This record gives sequence, structure tokens and C-alpha cells, in this order.
Amino acid sequence: MKSISIGLLGLGTVGTGVVKIIKNHQDQLMHQVGCPVEIKKILVQNVHKKRPVEIDPNILTSNADDILFDQDIDVVIEVMGGINATKDYLITALRQGKHVVTANKDLMALHGSELLTVASEYGCDLFYEASVGGGIPILRGLVDGLASDRITQLMGIVNGTTNYILTKMTNEGRSYDEVLKEAQELGFAEADPTSDVEGLDAARKMTILATLGFSMHIDLDDVQVRGISNVTEEDIKYGKKLGYTMKLIGYAHREGEKVEASVAPTFLSNNHPLASVQNEYNAVYVYGEAVGETMFYGPGAGSLPTASAVVSDLVAVIKNLRIGVNGKSAVTPQYPKRLKEDSE
Ligand code: NAP
Ligand code: HSE
Repeated sequence: MKSISIGLLGLGTVGTGVVKIIKNHQDQLMHQVGCPVEIKKILVQNVHKKRPVEIDPNILTSNADDILFDQDIDVVIEVMGGINATKDYLITALRQGKHVVTANKDLMALHGSELLTVASEYGCDLFYEASVGGGIPILRGLVDGLASDRITQLMGIVNGTTNYILTKMTNEGRSYDEVLKEAQELGFAEADPTSDVEGLDAARKMTILATLGFSMHIDLDDVQVRGISNVTEEDIKYGKKLGYTMKLIGYAHREGEKVEASVAPTFLSNNHPLASVQNEYNAVYVYGEAVGETMFYGPGAGSLPTASAVVSDLVAVIKNLRIGVNGKSAVTPQYPKRLKEDSE
């Protein structure tokens, strides 16, 4: 098989991790897919910015068309973030017959269904494992690993930034503002951290998880959201005295066709398994009628963990190319839209 050419949209926290993994794991990738993988072009805003990874400056561009209309590029990896312009880029890429891997939960929670439809019309893969749970392979776990089951409950910590903040406030008595700044410096937070601290990032992830877990289309509006910006150091101290730990918990429950979903700061008893999930780590408890209780755990944000999920999606695309099943894979399911009144 010829080498696979990648167009990378974005070279920030996650993009840098993708470059490092593709460069440093060539042997592993060759073993998995049987051909070399090469990053041909990278879209950035500022081509002159100093980068924390060695890059040939000639492959940087600030013009997306250089990637989207390059006939030699097989796969577009989107790790730039954003919604409307990014959606247009991905639709263009798919219409050009390029497979797409994205870490963008904002986009997938709002427009995933439309993008997946375009992907399947054009016989392309669109994978988004890194959009939920950073490096944890939770989406494949739900769609493939638990394919035979009927999942009725999902509950977990799905935002690394807020878990980092709450952990440091609880264990070290540090202030919210100081720890938020640290989470930003570590690359866990979104470009605008409001979506992290106000619970929107977690709500977007719960939308994706519930859609895949319950095999129904769930809208972001179906998720009730409350973030941690009003949680005080006093609240945390008070809970701690009584044996409770504060966590931002995403919850989704299904009974028949009725679905309830929420994100809210919640006091958990210290012996609850989710209470011991520290720092930027995420954990999702999944209850399936046949399997019973399962738990997915791992780093929920950060450069290399997230890039690990992105590059694993890339491997899945290339494996599909080898057997000619792109656009038909089980990890790009289409679900009927759930009628609003079904949930009432
Ligand atoms: P980031 O560090 O802010 O990097 C964004 C990159 O995209 C930068 O290289 C930037 O270029 C480029 N970019 C942004 N807007 C652009 C535009 N309009 N045109 C051209 N280039 C543009 O972001 P990140 O943390 O890597 O996150 C990227 C995506 O992954 C987001 O969707 C995020 O939600 C998702 N994600 C992040 C994490 C995480 O832990 N950080 C985990 C899971 C998913 P410059 O470098 O020139 O500024
Ligand atoms: N800002 C996100 C978080 C990145 O903190 O969980 C991972 O999706």
C-alpha cells in the first residue's frame, strides 16, 4: 500500500501531540497499517510562531484550501477547534473524498449527525474518539465493545479542567482562579475556558455519549447544565468535613424512549469510585442490561493522551482503506432523531 498523506488542521496542544506520535511511533504504525504515514501539510493561524516540536516550515500554511483541495491528501485530522468555519472545512474535505478524524466535541455535539451523513454519502470515514474522554477509548467501547447490550445509564467525570480545579481546591486548598490558570497552562482547558467551567464542554460530551450509548439522537438542549464557577472554597471545605468530595458529574439515564441528561457539581461520598478520580483524569460508569456495571478511566485531556486517541482513529481509517469499507464502519453509526415528545 502507498504511504498515507495527512493534512493536519491545527498545531496547538493536541496537534503537537499528533505530530510527535506520528513521528515517534512510526514502527508501531507501520506494524498496524503496513505503510508509512506522512504529514504533508499543517494549517495554523500564524506560520511564524515558534513551535514546541520540530517541523519543516515549508509544510505550514495558513490557507485551508492548500489541504482541502490537495488531491494527494488522504486523511484530514482536525484539531483546531471552532464550529462554523470548521464545519465548512470538514464538509469540503469529505466532499473531496478525504477521510476525517476530529477531536472537536463542540462540532460533533451540534452537527455530528449532518457531518456523519455527508461522510457516508461520500464513502468516507469520520471518526471522533478524542472528542470525549481524551485518551480513553470510550466511544469505541460503547459502539463496538458493548454493541450487543442495551445501555441504560452513563455517569461520569468528562471534563479534565474542572476535575483538575476541584481536585486541587479539595486536596491543596488552592484558589479556583489560580488552579484554572494552571489548567490552561497545562493545555487542558479550551481556548475559551468558559465552556469548561460552566459545564458546556461536559454537556457536549454527554450529548455524544448518550447519542452513541442509547442509540438515539440526543440534542445538546436535552442536557441540563450547571458548571462549577459558583462553587466556593467554603462549599468544598464543608463537604470535606462531612466525608464528601465535590465533582462535576455528567449523568444520562434512559427508560424506554425517555432520556434524562444533566451536568452539575455534585457531592459524592468519599468511598464512591468517582470520588477518587483525580486531576485531569476522567471516568465514565456505564450500565448495560446484560454486562452490568463497567467503568472507563484514564487521562481526559492533555497533548499526548488526546493525540493517542486521534492517531488511533487514523489507524482505524487506514485499516478500513485496506479492506475497502470506509464510510460503512460500525464506529460511524447513524441514529434516528428522537422526537422531542418522546422525552416528555
Ligand atoms: P489549541 O492549543 O488552541 O490549538 C489550536 C490550533 O489550531 C493552533 O495551532 C492554531 O494555530 C490553530 N487554529 C485555530 N483556529 C484556526 C484558524 N481559524 N485557522 C487556522 N488555524 C487555526 O487547541 P487544542 O487544545 O489543541 O484543541 C484542539 C481541539 O481539540 C479542540 O476542538 C478541542 O476542544 C479538542 N480537544 C482538546 C483537548 C485538550 O486536552 N487540549 C482534548 C480533547 C479534545 P496557531 O498555533 O497558529 O495559533
Ligand atoms: N477542555 C477539555 C477538558 C479538553 O478539560 O476536558 C478535553 O476534552
